Amino acid sequence: MSAPLIESMIAAVEASPQDLPLRLHLAELLVTAGRGPEAVSHLAVALQQDPTHSEAQALMARALAPAPSSPPAPPAQSTPAGVDWRAYEEEFAGSVPPRFVRSDDEPDPVAGEEDRIVDVETSAVRLADVGGMADVKKRLEMAFLGPLRNEKLRSLYGKSLRGGLLLYGPPGCGKTFLARAVAGEMGARFVTVSLVDVLNMWIGQSEQNLHQIFETARRNAPCVLFLDEVDALGHKRSQLQSSAMRTLGNQLLAEMDGMEGTNEGVFVLAATNAPWDVDPALRRPGRLDRTVLVVPPDTDARRAILEVHLRDRPIAAIDLKRLAAATERFSGADLAHLCETASEYAMHDSLVSGQVRMIEQRDFEAALREIQPSTGAWMTTARNVAMFANQDGSYNDLTKYLKKNKLM
Ligand SMILES: Nc1ncnc2c1ncn2[C@@H]1O[C@H](COP(=O)(O)OP(=O)(O)O)[C@@H](O)[C@H]1O
Ligand SMILES: [Mg+2]
Repeated sequence: MSAPLIESMIAAVEASPQDLPLRLHLAELLVTAGRGPEAVSHLAVALQQDPTHSEAQALMARALAPAPSSPPAPPAQSTPAGVDWRAYEEEFAGSVPPRFVRSDDEPDPVAGEEDRIVDVETSAVRLADVGGMADVKKRLEMAFLGPLRNEKLRSLYGKSLRGGLLLYGPPGCGKTFLARAVAGEMGARFVTVSLVDVLNMWIGQSEQNLHQIFETARRNAPCVLFLDEVDALGHKRSQLQSSAMRTLGNQLLAEMDGMEGTNEGVFVLAATNAPWDVDPALRRPGRLDRTVLVVPPDTDARRAILEVHLRDRPIAAIDLKRLAAATERFSGADLAHLCETASEYAMHDSLVSGQVRMIEQRDFEAALREIQPSTGAWMTTARNVAMFANQDGSYNDLTKYLKKNKLM
């Protein structure tokens, strides 16, 4: 087996990580070339995608076998005595993919340019997948989801299906994730906008594109239009150097006011880590007039989030209560990272020992020693804002949160 062939296969697998047959082919080449340890990691990925894949299991057994001194025998006779097949099969029987897939809201690197700008979303995430956040969910339910479901009540109370809500809070605490869950609840009636993409386009075209985005939402009404990282677009207009950017901010205001068409049935959900950078004009009545603080999860919420992230992983005897207690100030993303890291420890151990094992408490203890909560920097900024820039009371809930948690 020529090394160049294997090298180009490795590159091919890197380019298409989801291609299972390709990965298996590479693993077989590696095993045959006596490069078992390298094959093991590819086979582990393959088995995460499909734990019952018999060819992958057989190759794994070969890969884990001690390096043969003579050329390997055909697969049927090569099952090494050192591997306990039954235990091995049992270990994998309970595990369901995915384990190390990319998280849901990472951009798809191969998506076409157009798809990324205006996207009528279909999302598999549901509100039930969002751990904690009872308050925020209730606000969404009251402001939009409830009225949407019940047209009779809506007309009885004269509630219109328009308006907006701004989610704000430290990074990684689930704002984007929550929006995707709302999309999951709403099916196709969810339009998401990557504002960074709007800004990256030809400046002269940006207003037109923003208009298109709102038009798409209007056509799909009743629907939710999600503006993520809205600070990028609604940046305090006075701070903006370029007049083109100012025009874009004005365009957003005009669209939100429905000057370019009726916004009935268009509910604007926006998210930002930096609400203090959002143009106050965007937060006036009829625009993003309700704000909801999304804070780092409390103990119960952390437990729920850990459960969500461990649902699809092979675990044994995990002390959730202890983990929830030991992860104060962790964001949802930090918790996801913790689970990922613990999995890596267990997997690494399996690779080294040749015995596939479950993810155990000790893996989490090791991961905890390594991972620090990431919300501190945001809290420092937030504290300054709450202390020196809350004259109009718009950060009262933030102040309350900071005081309650002795951060201020
Ligand atoms: N409440 C939560 N429940 C479950 N997972 C969460 C939660 N909050 C955050 N996460 C995890 O953290 C990741 C990052 O969260 P994200 O929504 O991107 O944060 P934000 O938009 O607030 O910066 C999510 O993809 C998800 O895996
Ligand atoms: Mg986000």
